[in-house]
Amino acid sequence: MYSKEELLRGLNTRVIGSKLFVFESIDSTNICAKTLAEAGIEDGAVVFAENQTEGRGRNGRSWLSEPGNNLLFSVVLRPELPKEKTVFLTFYSAVAVAHAVESLIGTSVECKWPNDLLLNSKKFCGILLESSFQQSSPVYSVVGIGINVNQRTFDMEMGNRVTSLSLEHERDFDRKHVFQRVLEHLDRLYGEVRAGDFKNIMKTWNAKCTMFGKPVTVSSAHDRFSGKALGLSSDGGLMIETSGGTSIVYAGDVSISQ
Ligand code: BTN
Repeated sequence: MYSKEELLRGLNTRVIGSKLFVFESIDSTNICAKTLAEAGIEDGAVVFAENQTEGRGRNGRSWLSEPGNNLLFSVVLRPELPKEKTVFLTFYSAVAVAHAVESLIGTSVECKWPNDLLLNSKKFCGILLESSFQQSSPVYSVVGIGINVNQRTFDMEMGNRVTSLSLEHERDFDRKHVFQRVLEHLDRLYGEVRAGDFKNIMKTWNAKCTMFGKPVTVSSAHDRFSGKALGLSSDGGLMIETSGGTSIVYAGDVSISQ
């Protein structure tokens, strides 16, 4: 297990990672980060764990991860943004992870709406954004990031939809190195986030998104329909062309049909 000192040694950031909490096992780093945020922990604080007993994914799902082999962490963010811009924190985090991973592996990472990162069309990273609002302004947001780094086997039911850095590159990765690179890229882009300027982040995300122009199926708790992914709306939704016109989706799972 990494110690806090080890994870901080050589880290070159100003805000992100200004405080670090490290656990061998915890229910969920997002739950812990939210508790710390409620108690007033500062902007950029990070909760890191080697194992989660209640790791959370989107839409009420679990996030499963082999203890000690991957990266599981959550970052408390307190940028002063209007409520409608909070959604862009997911794209910000995705771009930071993509840059970090690309700098280590030398090949391109793909972004999939709303919060997945893929290598060779398989998911290796998920991001869970949870925000608390007061009078339509976010008081804090927690960005939870799970990166499959050195795990080599996955549940059969996940089929060949998931992967890890080590599976794709046939070598193990230094998890501390990956963690620090991600924090450094989050830190580097944080000035733009604080200024509410997501232009550059969204341009990068869009350039890395491989779904546009492809047939997709969207499933949510209440609905399931197919169409062609056209692009993102100005408020971060996914525009889909269907036989009945253009729909904008804000939640749900999207599978790419080809
Ligand atoms: C998803 O793809 O469904 C989002 C997965 C997010 C998983 C990470 S792991 C660290 C943090 N703590 C959690 O409980 N979830 C996020």
